[in-house]
Amino acid sequence: MSIYLDNAATSYPKPEPVYQAVMHAMREIGASPGRGGHRRSLEAGRIMFQAREAAAALFSVPDSSRIIFTHSATEALNMALRGTLAPGDHVVTSSMEHNSLARPLHQLEKQGVALTIVQAGPDGVIDPVDVQRALTPRTRMIAIGHVSNVSGTIQPIEQFSAIAHAAGALFLLDAAQSAGSLPINVVSAGIDLLAVPGHKGLYGPQGTGLLYAASHIPLRPLLAGGTGTNSTSEDQPEGFPEGFEVGTHNLPGIAGLKAGMEFVMQQGVAVIGEHERGLVSYAIEKLQLLKQVTLHTPLETALRAAVLSFTVAGKDSSAVAFELDRRFDIAVRAGLHCAPRAHRTLGTFPGGTVRMSPGWFTTREDIAMFADAVVQCL
Ligand code: ALA
Repeated sequence: MSIYLDNAATSYPKPEPVYQAVMHAMREIGASPGRGGHRRSLEAGRIMFQAREAAAALFSVPDSSRIIFTHSATEALNMALRGTLAPGDHVVTSSMEHNSLARPLHQLEKQGVALTIVQAGPDGVIDPVDVQRALTPRTRMIAIGHVSNVSGTIQPIEQFSAIAHAAGALFLLDAAQSAGSLPINVVSAGIDLLAVPGHKGLYGPQGTGLLYAASHIPLRPLLAGGTGTNSTSEDQPEGFPEGFEVGTHNLPGIAGLKAGMEFVMQQGVAVIGEHERGLVSYAIEKLQLLKQVTLHTPLETALRAAVLSFTVAGKDSSAVAFELDRRFDIAVRAGLHCAPRAHRTLGTFPGGTVRMSPGWFTTREDIAMFADAVVQCL
């Protein structure tokens, strides 16, 4: 029996309506939204609109036109950073960030944006006091991930947004590991920019993501090109959302994402999150019995989401993951998980960890089999 425990990389399987929606968009619609007046194009446009409305409902966004569909959370983060920052600005981020946020910030630093990387504690928690201390009169943004893709640590995001706003700065949240399994309300949490993958906790296909930019943010487009609007203008239109969605849309992907978001709302984000966290607790219970295993995740339930990292004494993480795959057909991810500084923070650099990440379709039986398999890898 094949067991998939790599939902932090991308969720699998997807709910059945997601597969159906992708095929429907390809077979029955076929056309591109906003690129024609014929009925197929109009139907494609309706699906785009409904997907935007679904995303708005999921994240309590007041105006769905402020949601921009992207190809990934990485693209959304690049759009948010490059669309708002300028040389001379200062950004506060943390040592727990994935390269999708850390690398564009590093590039911007080379172009004159000042950067402070706040060091998180050994459990991955970023102390708001340290974030406050990092502010300068030039701070334009606090940019932080909601949940670490390595340790599963949940950050106190409301405190960061309050600090940002009191300083007249923006708050950018990378929700790569939380969207769909932790409730996110952009208004009550004070999120100005929200970057979300479509293919993880929202159960859409790979190659989907979105950026929410609050209405007070004068975002500059990352790319220029065809928008299906203002065709006589040589300048890039900056209207929301079309000015930011250049080129032909990934309609099959967005149709699948719409079905995924509807599925998530039907189940309930809190219910999904509770299911996944319960499975991580069960895995912790089992792995804690093994003296060769060290867990690299907060043990306090309130501090962790659905990601569990561990190492095995005397064994390379990649070797453990390889064995789990080859001998037991269990998919986990090993190594640095594109977040080297997070591993330095947790004390697991350069070897990395073995990471297991359950999803909605994971069962307790899967976790029991995973734990038994780990025992046989010791
Ligand atoms: N960010 C994804 C992961 O952590 C790809 O695996």
